[in-house]
Amino acid sequence: AVRVKFLGRKGLLTQYLRNLGQLSIEEKQLYGKRANEIKDILASSFEEAQGALAALKREDALRREAIDVTLPGRRSGYGRIHPVTQVLEEICAIFSGIGFSIVDGPEIEKDYYNFEALNMPRNHPARDAQDTFYFDQTNLLRTHCSAVQVHSMEAMKPPIRAISTGKVYRRDPFDATHSPMFYQVDVIVVEEGITMGDLKGMLDAFLKRLFGPGTLTRLRPGFFPFVEPGAEVDISCIFCSGRGCAKCKQSGWIEILGAGMVHPKVLRMSNIDDSRYSGFAWGMGIDRVAILKYGVDDIRLFFDNDLRFLRQF
Ligand code: PHE
Repeated sequence: AVRVKFLGRKGLLTQYLRNLGQLSIEEKQLYGKRANEIKDILASSFEEAQGALAALKREDALRREAIDVTLPGRRSGYGRIHPVTQVLEEICAIFSGIGFSIVDGPEIEKDYYNFEALNMPRNHPARDAQDTFYFDQTNLLRTHCSAVQVHSMEAMKPPIRAISTGKVYRRDPFDATHSPMFYQVDVIVVEEGITMGDLKGMLDAFLKRLFGPGTLTRLRPGFFPFVEPGAEVDISCIFCSGRGCAKCKQSGWIEILGAGMVHPKVLRMSNIDDSRYSGFAWGMGIDRVAILKYGVDDIRLFFDNDLRFLRQF
């Protein structure tokens, strides 16, 4: 503003110079020269002052924004592995240790992989138990990792030994024992001469690894459209060693997974020669294993992100 007042186009100096018009030639020359000298002095003074001001500003900013590099840092603290992830990693370690491939599948799945190719055609009543979230007629949130079995059978040639883990979705209420999103592991083996004995042997060995060497396993007949025969698999109650307690409703057994021999129709649909190959499959909820292993009484705790809970594992 000061600069404009003195040096601007309508400033004092301009006005002064304009007034020189009334003077004689000699006076005009004299005062004109002086006026221009003053103008130069003023201009360079303003420039100097502006530079000094900017330097002051910069210094001030530097002082205000200074950081003391000798201050000790604030620690962000280490996180830890979520209990569900711990179980998931343990399972993956067991299976990679015996030569299984770990296969990933999409969470947004085609109706074909989730249901159709697993012998659950449209309108099959078994779909009711696995109602889910649909995007449209063909795309849905997968209800089980068994959908990945189909991808594995399409992509690999027997012998197939693969597991898949990840999130699955069902239209379940969110309460102490249910969640609309949970984790599963699904196992498939397809090769020549696989029998139910192989399935039983593997389940026994695996469940002993996971729950301890004293764990007993029991198979009961169960129905899943993609296996025949199918079984529900129980372990001896890990809380009372099978004697009977509140946790196992006095039965001594806890249901832990679904299993069976891959249905020949399922093999054929994925172009595997069912006269030559057979296989078994089983699927298990990982959150449920974590609940049992860590004695958690509400599945919702896993998703609350409450550090007081998570720090215990
Ligand atoms: N996919 C089944 C479920 O989610 C479990 C299962 C897997 C059963 C493989 C048999 C064989 O309930």
